[in-house]
Amino acid sequence: MSKPRLEGKVAIITGAASGIGEAAARLFAENGAIVIIADIQDEMGNQIVASIGPEKASYRHCDVRDEEQVKDTVAYTLEKYGKLDIMYSNAGILGLPCSILEMDLADQFNNIMAINLRGAAAAIKHGARVMVERKILGSIICTASVSASIGGAGPHSYTASKHALVGLIRSVSGELGKYGIRINCVSPYAVATPMTCSVYNLDPSTIEASSSALSHLKGIVLKARHVAEAALFLASDESAYISGHNLTVDGAFSVFNNVTSTIRR
Ligand SMILES: NC(=O)c1ccc[n+]([C@@H]2O[C@H](COP(=O)([O-])OP(=O)(O)OC[C@H]3O[C@@H](n4cnc5c(N)ncnc54)[C@H](O)[C@@H]3O)[C@@H](O)[C@H]2O)c1
Repeated sequence: MSKPRLEGKVAIITGAASGIGEAAARLFAENGAIVIIADIQDEMGNQIVASIGPEKASYRHCDVRDEEQVKDTVAYTLEKYGKLDIMYSNAGILGLPCSILEMDLADQFNNIMAINLRGAAAAIKHGARVMVERKILGSIICTASVSASIGGAGPHSYTASKHALVGLIRSVSGELGKYGIRINCVSPYAVATPMTCSVYNLDPSTIEASSSALSHLKGIVLKARHVAEAALFLASDESAYISGHNLTVDGAFSVFNNVTSTIRR
């Protein structure tokens, strides 16, 4: 039997108490990693640890808006497991759609940026610091979105935060590359998770039906597990020379616009 793809690796995953992060935590652990679930939903985070198995996972309360909490989560990981190979910055919120003419910058814009962009910057900073100090050839992954490439797939602030996140990983890829540290994004199309269901007040099957109808790739429904599989690839040694990349998991949604079929002679 081949060896597990993340055997002996230690991974922090932010926003892992739910949705895509939870799927990644389970998949990383199945593939031999020790996983630190960093989230603000303590009860759910602890339940996932119990179901993965406490020998393979830990929960840490970590609000990514607070840099100190991110730093403490990294320190806890080093103290408990002795290293950090993978930092997966996945925590994010969608926010409610609103007009740019009415946008509450302090509330809507700043809060999205504080979680989706600043929180990711804190995770990258503190994850990379220990990798550099300890000469770990680590992998850093961020969950961006199709909203990192196109407008109209999410609210304005969300779209801005995810575009900026891809800019951030591209910008730091050169600096971190000097230490052998890779950094990449995984960018999903719509997945029925608590984030999408709660913002649109729809049940998972309705989200999946509408996203599948709009998707170019037929015969498959996008699930959190598909996104986690892409993150697993970026976390593993199979992507050893891939850095600065934005890996879309979107069935061509962000690259194909069916204009020619609408042109009539
Ligand atoms: N679901 C989708 O359709 C979709 C599509 C593209 C990108 N994404 C991205 O995927 C990531 C995960 O989203 P999801 O769909 O799994 O949603 P989700 O709501 O199921 O999970 C997000 C997790 O992040 C946590 N979180 C929120 N604020 C936090 C904070 N301040 N500090 C720490 N944790 C915090 C939540 O508690 C939750 O457990 C997000 O970055 C999101 O933008 C999701």
